[in-house]
Amino acid sequence: MRVLVAGSGGREHALVWKIAQSPQVERVLAAPGSDGMSEATCYPDVSAGDGTALIELAKREAVDLVVIGPEDPLAAGVADVLREAGLAVFGPSAAAAQLEGSKYFARAFMSRHDIPQPAFARFTDLDEALAYVAEQGGPCVVKADGLAAGKGVAVCDGPEDAAAALREIMGDRRFGAAGDEVLIEERLLGEEASYYAISDGTHVVTLAPAQDHKRAQDGDVGENTGGMGAYAPAPVVDAAVEKRTLEEIVHPTIRGMREEGHPFVGVLYVGLMIRDGVPKVIEFNVRFGDPETQALMLQMDGDLVPLLDGAARGTLDAAPVPGTSDAAVCVVLASGGYPRNYETGIRIEGIESAEADPDVVVFHSGTKREGPGFVTKGGRVLGVTARGSDVSTARSRAYAAADRIRFEGQHRRGDIANRALPGRGR
Ligand code: AMP
Ligand code: GLY
Repeated sequence: MRVLVAGSGGREHALVWKIAQSPQVERVLAAPGSDGMSEATCYPDVSAGDGTALIELAKREAVDLVVIGPEDPLAAGVADVLREAGLAVFGPSAAAAQLEGSKYFARAFMSRHDIPQPAFARFTDLDEALAYVAEQGGPCVVKADGLAAGKGVAVCDGPEDAAAALREIMGDRRFGAAGDEVLIEERLLGEEASYYAISDGTHVVTLAPAQDHKRAQDGDVGENTGGMGAYAPAPVVDAAVEKRTLEEIVHPTIRGMREEGHPFVGVLYVGLMIRDGVPKVIEFNVRFGDPETQALMLQMDGDLVPLLDGAARGTLDAAPVPGTSDAAVCVVLASGGYPRNYETGIRIEGIESAEADPDVVVFHSGTKREGPGFVTKGGRVLGVTARGSDVSTARSRAYAAADRIRFEGQHRRGDIANRALPGRGR
């Protein structure tokens, strides 16, 4: 098989790395890909959002399966145009991608299908939104409705910081048109987890529960980021929570989308808040998580490709389900200043030395090849990922490897996966 992965981030690098190991796969292509993706032939001139160019490339290179990594092309309907051109595609239609592309669509869908979630209200007018938070009084969460690269969310302790967030999103339009509409949600308490369900629109195969670390600083403080690290499996999703998540959230969502005429093909990423064993949906995403995927791909024992291909072709029920015996941890090395402003073009040292450990893979999120090595090119630069027989072993390996990588201004968290360590954090 020939598999084309659309995208260029750390998540796509992890997918490319895993797909390349499949005995069924003869060749992996990536568009645009990145300088760090040594496992794939990259096509830097083909953007992940350019349906016409992807079709041309896929036909020219006789690609059997296209896997779309990021949310923007999915929201823009790239999966639809590829399917119309006769290609097998892993990734939802634009209609199904609204589960991520519009937070209000997702909330209204969950209301229709009795899927557990926080109370919410929607506003298009700044003054009305300000009046609402003042009247409610307590903690809340303010969200730009549209896509804002995981950053258009403010978790607020009270009406003052909620008002500031509303002014930033709706008044200053920090996230552009994504802030034309906002949701104000009940602030849920508990512990978060990411749960992944691959679906062909009918059947479901789930992956190991994972946990992301979204805040910039240790101890879950600082700004929300795209994700500073991840690990799997996450013990907060025990067997009972997993059962409830499947019965109350995953199956009703896949069934509801099918019944509403938008069958969900791809991976449904359920952002969960779990309290006293009760899971509720914080958000849906319609693609793999970054950096959870880096950890999940290392942690998965078997072949991912039959799942991706089975989902794309509507035959997921016939795909062998890979084992997931090990644990994995991904520590993100970010540019100083991320998620706000940061410099790029800074030389990175030590990637090879970090990868000398056979249980470590360094996935590239934002790097560029320059001379013999790499320089920084993005906010999140590398995902240093390690596997181990348990989270604690994988964590030690990931940090030992991360210690070998240096670039000026590097920022990372020191507490990735601490929650899963015996006797810690929970
Ligand atoms: P989202 O982009 O919707 O995942 O939101 C980013 C982060 O904000 C989540 O990972 C949570 O940490 C937090 N968050 C979002 N919605 C809520 C909520 N209703 N209650 C508590 N925390 C939330
Ligand atoms: N890990 C967070 C995200 O991918 O949105």
